[in-house]
Amino acid sequence: MSAAFVTVILAAGQGTRMKSALPKVMHPIAGLPMYAHIVEAALGAGAGRVVLVVGHARAEVERDVRGRFDQRVCTAVQEQQLGTGDAVRAGVAGLADSTGYVVVLYGDTPLVHTPLIAALMARAAESNARAVVLTSEVPDPAGYGRILRDPRGKVLGIREHKDASLSERSVREINCGAYAFQAEFLREALAKLATDNAQGELYITDVVGQAAALDSVATVAWSFDDVGGVNDRAQLATCEAAMRRRIAQRFAESGVTIRDLTTAYIDANVSIEPDAVIEPNVHLRGSTKIQSGARIDVGCVLSNVSVARGAYLKPYTVASDSEIGERVETGPFAHLRPESVLEADSKIGNFVEMKKTRLGRGSKASHLSYLGDGIIGTHVNIGAGTIFCNYDGVNKHVTTIEDDAFIGSDSQLIAPVRIGEGAYVGTGSTINRDVPAGALAISRAKQENKLGYAARLAARFSALKAAKSKK
Ligand code: UD1
Ligand code: CA
Repeated sequence: MSAAFVTVILAAGQGTRMKSALPKVMHPIAGLPMYAHIVEAALGAGAGRVVLVVGHARAEVERDVRGRFDQRVCTAVQEQQLGTGDAVRAGVAGLADSTGYVVVLYGDTPLVHTPLIAALMARAAESNARAVVLTSEVPDPAGYGRILRDPRGKVLGIREHKDASLSERSVREINCGAYAFQAEFLREALAKLATDNAQGELYITDVVGQAAALDSVATVAWSFDDVGGVNDRAQLATCEAAMRRRIAQRFAESGVTIRDLTTAYIDANVSIEPDAVIEPNVHLRGSTKIQSGARIDVGCVLSNVSVARGAYLKPYTVASDSEIGERVETGPFAHLRPESVLEADSKIGNFVEMKKTRLGRGSKASHLSYLGDGIIGTHVNIGAGTIFCNYDGVNKHVTTIEDDAFIGSDSQLIAPVRIGEGAYVGTGSTINRDVPAGALAISRAKQENKLGYAARLAARFSALKAAKSKK
């Protein structure tokens, strides 16, 4: 491992080309704001200190940093966005005592990861160069800074696209925007920066030019796959697709069956144990956790959901902030709203919606139900079309069903209400009083059969129709 180093991440720019009210670095990629991926990469590479330079929409970014990283990351303020060189000045202002290397990264290159930073630092250690620059050969370098070299390959400097001549623009080796600078050299070089360029800005890339003048630049060649910058929404989508693919690949390598690497939408903070199966077009969001042997079938969307061993989520199960126990089955087309708990071996089927409800061990609601604010015991059977009427227009009330009860199809349970242990609710009942344990409750009107009446009814309706069409 290389020596401790400081990382400065630039995130003060507005990101005009995003055309967004949200600051650019706050745009999420795989469930994390863009900048947070880079912070994680730096922390993972062993950065002793991480400084995020903030400016545009600073309060919003700072709040997120505090909530997410607390003391592990500090912020430095760049009052006016005068360029990346100025931003680094702000970033190192509080680091006057630091020696060794300062790694500088941009908040809008979210695919930068730990191995890349480790490679920069390894090159720094071996070359002892004042500046180490990550570069990439790309087919379309438009918009990026170009690496200028002499005929023998020695780096002369970096030319921004807007400042480049036609021949310089044909250079396909670009500046990826990841650097390691010797701290003392960086401080001196930053003091000498000037704004004599097309954008009238202070460029951090000119610090590389100063190191080149001292013949003290080393480069690391890297794949463009890891360094694409996000300047507009199309690049945001491109980076997100790459991130998604990277996450899916990592799980596949760790023993998870990912049926289709390109349509596994898995957020950065999701965990999945080996031998889980993720079918195509599944979205796993937030802090979702999937245990071994669970199968998540096509089209499921899970946000902050834990799924225990052996559970089977059939296609199009949508769930958030819920717990799914061992060997539970859900769906197809089931909806778990927040605070739903399905205990082991329970089951909910097609078009069942749950909210803030606990379904006990081995209990089942197989078809077309709404179970809201419920406490359901073990081995309860809830028939098709059962509704927990939990809302009286003002307050929410609880429905309690004790162990082994049976709720006949198409029943309404008007909360607050309690169905006792082993009780039986007849099909089509509207229940608004507690049912004692072991009792049978039926509350529907008695059936009447009028013999021969069907033909008379049909004749009457035909006559009515004929009268109407004469008018
Ligand atoms: C920059 C590089 C370019 C490189 C490319 C890689 C410079 C001058 N150019 O260009 O050589 O090929 O990145 O993606 O550095 N920022 C601030 N304060 C500022 C200006 C920018 O914090 O005053 C931040 C932005 O929020 C952004 C990052 O610095 O996260 C890069 O700025 P941006 O304007 O996107 O630079 P590029 O034009 O992409
Ligand atoms: Ca950029």
